[in-house]
Formats: sequence, C-alpha cells, structure tokens
Amino acid sequence: MDAKRSSISENLLAWYDVHARILPWRALPGEAPDPYRVWLSEVMLQQTTVAAVRPRFAAWVARWPDFASLAAADEADVMAAWAGLGYYARARNLVKAAKAVVADHGGAFPGTEAQLRTLPGLGAYTAAAVAAIAFGERAVVVDANVERVVARLFAIETPLPAARPAIRAAADTITPDARAGDFAQAMMDLGSGLCTVRAPKCLLCPLRDDCAGFAQGQPERLPVKAARRARPRKYGTIFWLEQGGDIRLVRRPPKGLLGGMRALPTGPWSTERPALADPPAVTDWRILPVTISHGFTHFDLELALAVGVGEAQEDGEWWPIADLSAAGLPTLFAKAAEAVIESTSAEAVIESKAAEAVIGREI
Ligand code: ADE
Repeated sequence: MDAKRSSISENLLAWYDVHARILPWRALPGEAPDPYRVWLSEVMLQQTTVAAVRPRFAAWVARWPDFASLAAADEADVMAAWAGLGYYARARNLVKAAKAVVADHGGAFPGTEAQLRTLPGLGAYTAAAVAAIAFGERAVVVDANVERVVARLFAIETPLPAARPAIRAAADTITPDARAGDFAQAMMDLGSGLCTVRAPKCLLCPLRDDCAGFAQGQPERLPVKAARRARPRKYGTIFWLEQGGDIRLVRRPPKGLLGGMRALPTGPWSTERPALADPPAVTDWRILPVTISHGFTHFDLELALAVGVGEAQEDGEWWPIADLSAAGLPTLFAKAAEAVIESTSAEAVIESKAAEAVIGREI
C-alpha cells in the first residue's frame, strides 16, 4: 500500500479509536467479538437503521442467544420476531444457516470469507462483514455508507450502480491487513455520522486531506446516482373481517412476497384498481376513506381497506383484536390494522358526540 493509502487507514483507525459508536453487537476494546451477534446484526442492518435494530436485536438475543437455540427455534416464531425488519427470506435463511452451522460446523461459524459464503443467506456483503468484524480477516466490506465514503474519497464520477466495481476496487486499495474489522466499522461510522448523504461534516473528517471529493469542493454531489425508473404501482384490497372482538387472519402462501406470514386477507394485487375481488366473506363491505401504501423492491402497492362483519369462508384463524400486536403481522398489515382501529375509533367518538348532542337536545 502506498503512503497516501496507508495514511487513509491510519487516520481512520485513529479516529475510530476515539469516536467508535458503542453498539450492542460490537465487542468492547480488548474483547473477542461474538460471531453469532455480529452476523445477526449485519443481517438485521441490511434494511433498517441502527436505531430501529437496537431493541429488536436485544429481544432476539435474549430469546435465541446462539446458533444452537436458533437452529432449534420454531420457524413461525422466528418469522413473527422478524416482522418489520424487511424481507422474510432473510429470517428463513437465518434459521437455515444456524441449522447448517450446528449440523456441519460443530456449532461455530467457519472463520473465512470463502467458507462463510457457502452458508444460506451469506452473500458477498455479509460474508465479508462477518469475516472482517468477527474474525479479523482482511475482507473488503462495502455497504451503502462505505460506497458513499469511497466515491467521495476517490471522486468516482461514474453513476451508481455502474460504479460498484470501481468503488470496490478503490475500497480494496485502502483496506489494511491488520484491524480489518475495525476498519470496516470505522468506514460505516464515518459514513453514517460525518460523510452523510446531505451536508457532510467535512471539517470534522479525519480523511479530509486525502479526499478528492472535498478538494473539488462539492463532495455531497457524490456518488452520482443513475436516474431511477418509476416503479410500477399495484393495487389491491385488505379485508378487515370482524366477529365479536376477533379479527380474521390467514397465512400467506409459502412462496411469494411475505410468504408464510400471518396476514389480513387480501384480494389479488394487480395494476388496475380492483373492485372488491375475492372477499373472504359474504357481507356488506364498507370501504374506509384511507389507503395503505407500501414500497416493495419492484413495485409500490396501494391497498384499499374494506371492513365487514361475518362468517369467514376461507382457511384462517380468529385472533383477538386486543392482542393483535402478538400476531407478528408484517409491517404492511400492521399499518392496515392501525389505520382501521384509528379510523373506527374516530367514528365511535363522532357517533358518541352525536348521541350526546341528541340526548342534550332531548333533555
Ligand atoms: N451497518 C451495518 N453494519 C454495521 C456495523 N457493524 N456497525 C455500524 N453500522 C453498521
């Protein structure tokens, strides 16, 4: 590594020694990291912020503290515990990988990036992150924060995603042999704390003197993003079917989006606004004046909310509305439930106010 490149890693590590965030999955200085916790945190953080992950991580490790307990867990419980943390395939792969670790690796992670890649769900990013952070292996770890730091440091002008190979190659040139895990996490902390998307705090940055983006005067311009094509929009209906304080829940089909999760019944999702297709009961459906919007990777979904009372016609279960938070509903359906409960209790207030007014007049 040339002098400039090694000054980058030295300055960054010196900054990290003072400014590293204290996070529940990070080892304190001098302690050995727990590979299980490192892996779990990296998978949880793939779609969610550190602030959102903190309480979820704590609850998870209290329940499943190691590979053995996760391997023996009931998959439905794991899926419910994952609710709100993004794609459920990740949670399914956590259980599969834990089982593989117990069955094929004597209950402990193999310690190299290449071996880690053979486990379910450990793609290029996760394997590199675990190899570096948990095992100190020199691995090039590039997440969105690191991508931004590197694009600025080297003033890489190619738009994303085409710039990814160049960014990775540049990150490789500054990754040190020693303290690879600290280096990776220092890059992440720098990206989330100082080298932010808007208004980066360059005056506080330990890499400012080596930063080509700063030298050019407009680091916030980088990385350049290719214009995004608008995502298609799909429409559907969520059916809120009530009976005596219970709500009808179903299991989504095992394959497909939110596969195998507990859910509110929905009709089909299509590019046309639906009539009330495939309701789960014959009853008078009332459409609420709110819709639920949710973004998936490949499309945005807008769901109408239909409320009804009656006997169910399809497989499913009745669940006490008062205990709905224990059902582990995916975010989309949790949002819908909140909207129905809010909107129907607002109506109840209006009705009781109207009743008061009537009684008032009668008196
Ligand atoms: N984001 C993803 N992994 C992280 C880590 N280990 N530390 C801080 N932020 C992260």
